[in-house]
Amino acid sequence: MTDGNYPQHSDITDDMWTKVDEIITANRDVPGSVIGVLRECQDVVGYLPVELIDYISDGLNLSSSEVFGVASFYSLFSFEPKGRHLIKVCMGTACYVKGIQEAVNRIENKYNLKEGATTEDRRFSLEAVRCLGACGLAPVVVVDRDTYGGVTAEKVIETIDKYE
Ligand code: FES
Repeated sequence: MTDGNYPQHSDITDDMWTKVDEIITANRDVPGSVIGVLRECQDVVGYLPVELIDYISDGLNLSSSEVFGVASFYSLFSFEPKGRHLIKVCMGTACYVKGIQEAVNRIENKYNLKEGATTEDRRFSLEAVRCLGACGLAPVVVVDRDTYGGVTAEKVIETIDKYE
């Protein structure tokens, strides 16, 4: 591999590169391991910057475009940094009818955050999802692993602001 001369990237520490190396080494001769490698490396770094995809491609002896093609096929992979907290807002019918859009507007305005994006300070990422399977609680917002039902535009910021 690189004998400690890792590519420079502000989001990837040397410790992270070392772990990436371990993941690649453990999987190099395993056919069809690319998805697993991408997933493990994303767990280490938080997302998949171009430099990381190039590095993985070299390590697995695949072309970058091949690896990039696999990664872009699956929605679980992200090419952008994610926030420390993931806010999922349910845009399913029950939640929509009960006014989730107003709560979403408040979130967007308060944190200057668009759906599908991450705040500049990487505190929050916002994701709109289809029915979360908790329609009885509509409208529903999930922050990380916590589910909040009966969300109102008035209270939603109070709820989310607890997450630093
Ligand atoms: S529509 Fe929102 S939980 Fe089902």
